[in-house]
Amino acid sequence: MKNTVATFQKMKEQGEKISMLTCYDYSTAKLEEAAGINGILVGDSLGNVMLGLPDTLSVTMEHMITYGSSVARACHDTMVVIDMPFMSYQESIERAVHNAGRLMKEGRANAVKLEGGAAVCPQIKAITACGIPVMAHIGLTPQSINAFGGNKVQGKNEARAKELLEDAKKVQEAGAFALTLECVPKPLASLITKELRIPTIGIGAGDGCDGQILVYQDMLGLFSDYTPKFVKHFASLGGEMQAAFKAYDEAVKNGTFPDDAHAFKMDDSVLERLY
Ligand code: KIV
Repeated sequence: MKNTVATFQKMKEQGEKISMLTCYDYSTAKLEEAAGINGILVGDSLGNVMLGLPDTLSVTMEHMITYGSSVARACHDTMVVIDMPFMSYQESIERAVHNAGRLMKEGRANAVKLEGGAAVCPQIKAITACGIPVMAHIGLTPQSINAFGGNKVQGKNEARAKELLEDAKKVQEAGAFALTLECVPKPLASLITKELRIPTIGIGAGDGCDGQILVYQDMLGLFSDYTPKFVKHFASLGGEMQAAFKAYDEAVKNGTFPDDAHAFKMDDSVLERLY
């Protein structure tokens, strides 16, 4: 059955944990759906793990639509949320609504996600007024990496913790159906989760959140440029893939691939007429 905003809300109310992973392609999305993951985020983290960029700032609407629509084509039961990339919603409410609409129409998203608290509440109100569900995202918001001065845990001091709690309440009031909490101390994320009606989805925010999300290349051990403290490797597929690539390289070079089982036959008489 399709996971929707209503499913997420019901899961919070019933104390059932929500599982989310990122995804950026059709084949992997099919595997995540088959595993029973509740929601897929086509995150702008694709800038890092798919495009090899140092941050998410250069990710475009076209990237999000191309990768997002490939994921959406694989998902029948899994809710698909597509990230609004940097400067696709900050500049004006009109631009935010227009671009959220493109992610729904061209990307075939079930919801969009954008980063920020009080500052983006007018955008959240306007987008949800069009019938587009919005997931908010506060804490360490990677699109503001330059303002933060690096990937730092957010909300450790009283002023910032209060600000995050206020932001969480404001995005809920603006109409967000869920809230991502990234790199927030566990006790603060737990408090925010208790204070909100809508579900919280944590990444580096401890087990008090209503759900969890990880970047799939991180949890499979496929991305080795850096590993944040909150990442757990549920498999080490990077090593296995490299071994398979090496075996293929050797087989091609020593002539054991392709063998006859992986080649096509033709009628000898046809061949003879070619000579
Ligand atoms: O872009 C992304 O993958 C995200 C998650 C880390 C929450 O925003």
